[in-house]
Amino acid sequence: MRKLPELFDNNRRWAAGMAADRPGFFRELAAQQAPRHLWIGCSDSRVPANESVGLLPGELFVHRNVANLVLHNDFSCLSVLQYAVDVLGVEHIIVCGHYGCGGVTAAWEDRQLGLVDNWLRPIRDLALLYREPLLALPDDACRIDRLCELNVLFQALRVCRTTIVRQAWDRGKGLTVHAWVYGLNDGMLHDLGFCASDLATAEAEFVRGTEYNRRVGL
Ligand code: CO
Repeated sequence: MRKLPELFDNNRRWAAGMAADRPGFFRELAAQQAPRHLWIGCSDSRVPANESVGLLPGELFVHRNVANLVLHNDFSCLSVLQYAVDVLGVEHIIVCGHYGCGGVTAAWEDRQLGLVDNWLRPIRDLALLYREPLLALPDDACRIDRLCELNVLFQALRVCRTTIVRQAWDRGKGLTVHAWVYGLNDGMLHDLGFCASDLATAEAEFVRGTEYNRRVGL
């Protein structure tokens, strides 16, 4: 017996609706994809990538993992990045975290969840690195929100430091990296002011974004 029949019902309704609204939509998409944006986001079920920026299938290339990390030995993320930049030719890379991220919260609270603790370790390290200014904030909710922002800024910088993006910039390719945070409470995106089209700007934007006299959104 087929499981989850309600999801297949939803799928039939969705596909029929899309085909009715946009005749030929799926046929054209099947022939090729030409997205201009790469989204690197958290796996969290409450953060809808395409819907939050109003982009249709075919318009956003997506990579998601727990707490939107960009690790230089993660071949899944690197492969998505390389394919997006070198083959699809995306023009914008958006690293989008979200406030109230469970991965960031677990890292801040040093919770033991299992294997995933190892994955989240870079955020725990970031929390220890910024421990003093984080502790100066009023409460844990503020600290976790700020750590969410710091994590996004750092992952955006990591994107810029990959061989893939550096080589693309060296070739003169127009490619911009952004750091955004999504608000679970209101569905709004917040631009952290990181907007880099070359490595020097990326390094400077990261330093600027992590300064504690600019407590964005807190
Ligand atoms: Co999350």
